[in-house]
Amino acid sequence: MNSKIPLSYNPIDSKAIAAKAREYEDANHSQLVRDFETELEKTTGVAHAVAVNSGTAAIHLALKAVGVKAGDFVLVSTFTYVATINPIIYLGAVPVFIDSELQTWNIDPQLIEDAFKHFAAKGKLPAAILVVHTYGMPANMDALLNLARQYGVPLVEDAAECIGSSYNNKPLGSLAEVGVLSFNQNKIVTTFGGGAVLTNNKSIYNQALHWASHARVAYEYYHHEEVGYNYKMGSLNACAGLVSLRDLQTAVNQRRAVFEQYAEFLKEDSTITWQHEHPPAYSNRWLSCFVFPPQQAQRLQQLASKQQIETRPLWKPMHLQPAFAGARAFLSGVAENLFKNGLCLPSGQMNEAQHERIFQVLHQLR
Ligand SMILES: Cc1ncc(COP(=O)(O)O)c(C=O)c1O
Repeated sequence: MNSKIPLSYNPIDSKAIAAKAREYEDANHSQLVRDFETELEKTTGVAHAVAVNSGTAAIHLALKAVGVKAGDFVLVSTFTYVATINPIIYLGAVPVFIDSELQTWNIDPQLIEDAFKHFAAKGKLPAAILVVHTYGMPANMDALLNLARQYGVPLVEDAAECIGSSYNNKPLGSLAEVGVLSFNQNKIVTTFGGGAVLTNNKSIYNQALHWASHARVAYEYYHHEEVGYNYKMGSLNACAGLVSLRDLQTAVNQRRAVFEQYAEFLKEDSTITWQHEHPPAYSNRWLSCFVFPPQQAQRLQQLASKQQIETRPLWKPMHLQPAFAGARAFLSGVAENLFKNGLCLPSGQMNEAQHERIFQVLHQLR
């Protein structure tokens, strides 16, 4: 029986992790977290990074730090993972789902403008825009930054999937007021659970850091003037992150090479499409995803599953999720079509034999 080929495999360099941990044997262990934050600051070019225990926690802190509160509207991509939306709900705010554009599959600036006009007419503007750069591909940041400026609302980047991607040569997560990364097990840089808040704004940084440690005020005794969270990253997670981050560009090159091989093969069928990377966008191609003619994605998933190859339909849009039934949405049908006809293919590290197995299945589609 063939072993399973996972969707997004990251090898564990246990020797390097052990060696890194040994470097800190005599240090205060929180130094590992601080050093990981410093490396993130260098990698992304932001002034401040706060390492936390998940990307979801990072989104929660980021939204709170830009002032989102109960009853506020947040304009957010409908085509995403649920972790983007849940923190809006934690804050008592209200998600307003925005559909995707065809080229990047990311939030459509034209629909954002429609939403702003709608809310302006009602007399209450949304409190923030939360943009997701999905599967590693940058959203149309020039247009989004312009809209945020025009309407005077903060822009928050959910770059959970996007370390190593950039826009205008700036790393994703560093372009707006505040950005978020995830380091869960399937991401290109992993801490086996973790995330980060990125910002150039000192006051956002101070607040995120404060809330992430139960809002403890630095007195000799335990003193708390508001309610915080236990969100800081653990030291061993940061240790793994320091090792993983070192290999970022190699991992990006590997993911991009996998994508190119799929695209080269699939382009012979002109009805198959994918996210287009146009300058100034540079994608880490976290997951290789394709949209097929009707029924083909389902057929491919069945064929792959028989060969123990993991694939996954593209995100089921948030406006279709029962958890958010009744939420307002500005739609064009793009995200629903992506869900209906799209599939993510294995995109992590794989050996020759695994590569062969996947392409044998792709050949059966012809
Ligand atoms: C778009 C997006 N946002 C947020 C998250 C949340 O990250 P985490 O799993 O680290 O909480 C993820 C990943 O799971 C994601 O893909």
